Amino acid sequence: MSERWTPSSWRNKPVAQVPFYPDAAALDAVESQLAGFPPLVFAGEARKLKRALGKVANGEQFLLQGGDCAESFAEHSADNIRDFFRVFLQMAVVLTYAAASPVVKVGRVAGQFAKPRSSNVEKQNGVELPSYRGDIINDIEFTESGRTPDPQRLLMAYRQSAATLNLIRAFATGGYANLDNAHRWMLGFVKDSPSSGRYRELAEKITESLDFLRAIGIDPETHPEMRITDFYTSHEALLLGYEQAMTRVDSTSGDYYATSGHMIWIGDRTRQLDHAHVEYFRGIRNPIGLKCGPSLKPDELIKLIDILNPENEAGRLTLICRFGNDKVFENLPGLIRAVRAAGRSVVWSCDPMHGNTITSANGYKTRPFDRIIGEVKNFFAVHEAEGAYAGGIHLEMTGKNVTECTGGARAISDIDLADRYHTHCDPRLNAEQAIEMAFLVADLLKRQRAARGPVKRVEAAE
Ligand code: PEP
Ligand code: CO
Repeated sequence: MSERWTPSSWRNKPVAQVPFYPDAAALDAVESQLAGFPPLVFAGEARKLKRALGKVANGEQFLLQGGDCAESFAEHSADNIRDFFRVFLQMAVVLTYAAASPVVKVGRVAGQFAKPRSSNVEKQNGVELPSYRGDIINDIEFTESGRTPDPQRLLMAYRQSAATLNLIRAFATGGYANLDNAHRWMLGFVKDSPSSGRYRELAEKITESLDFLRAIGIDPETHPEMRITDFYTSHEALLLGYEQAMTRVDSTSGDYYATSGHMIWIGDRTRQLDHAHVEYFRGIRNPIGLKCGPSLKPDELIKLIDILNPENEAGRLTLICRFGNDKVFENLPGLIRAVRAAGRSVVWSCDPMHGNTITSANGYKTRPFDRIIGEVKNFFAVHEAEGAYAGGIHLEMTGKNVTECTGGARAISDIDLADRYHTHCDPRLNAEQAIEMAFLVADLLKRQRAARGPVKRVEAAE
């Protein structure tokens, strides 16, 4: 691993989950074109996120990360982006208030297109075609031409990411993210929710706090921090040709940054120590994530940390744990102990989605809300037992009222799944389930805060 790193050195390593493009020259041409396009995000923004995540690692802030399993070309609309952003902000308000600590907001958005698959092929009625790997690679339609990887899709994904990010930047800074708005949406949600009793209390406390602040002259008009917010983008950097093309030298520091998103992560299927994805990630300076599934052993994790964060920089590495509700107690304590024994700084985040996928009786890929919640509770319980800080949550969610995960306050059943099952990949929490989750996490955070006492703030160099 001490060999020289370049944005293309991953090409000398074995690479998992790579699509086969029949026209290699066309792919090269597209990648060269992309390499000349403007960056989607800037190194300074990625550094700011890394500093914020450093505070999460230190127990001072909490990470909320979420969005689609896979963004799609078909679902690209202003309404979808707005609805997602709105629910996400509502969740952040609930968490900020309950935890009395800032929430670092990171969307799985504006670049979350490429998907790892458990099989290279899919069979339907005796016909075998390549698996769907996300809109940046091929089409979900089960036809020969649809499933053939098409390099033009990289350009479409880039342009869609730019448009999505443009709208999100406007929302985050142009007044839409005003705390008063977020609170008003919250009150609307509380009114309509079947379990509103539990939520009303918190909503009323926030109203009182905002009224008090206003009475002493602190309001969104006079205080920009109440109407603008920092919102960051993230995705699984699976398609390394695209990532390489978007890798740029930052003129301020001379370091390489991935400019396809602020934070990128390595999936659970592509974290082999000597493979291409780990090679690519070690050379870029963004904050990065590493998915940790049940097959990851503590000594392997430490080797990965040695490669990915050799300087032990706080905020550089977020470990996104996704074991499955019933496997948290078995897997997580060993990892936490190994990281502590090695003296490593990480953010511990919980992805309660990917270890809890089942097939419903009527054939839908779904996730029971109870199991999702169970994994989050177990994650916090293990951290409490180990004296560690549960620092974040990673969700697949949408702002729409889809029916993809069963359960929740509205008790979505297997039969209901047929109503609005729209995902291009994994089942997502709908808007109500997402907010319900935020209230649950808020309770857990409050408890964690009480148990840990006041945080010792470490002054990070700005
Ligand atoms: C995902 O986050 O959509 C995903 C594929 O996760 P994992 O790599 O943890 O399976
Ligand atoms: Co997924």
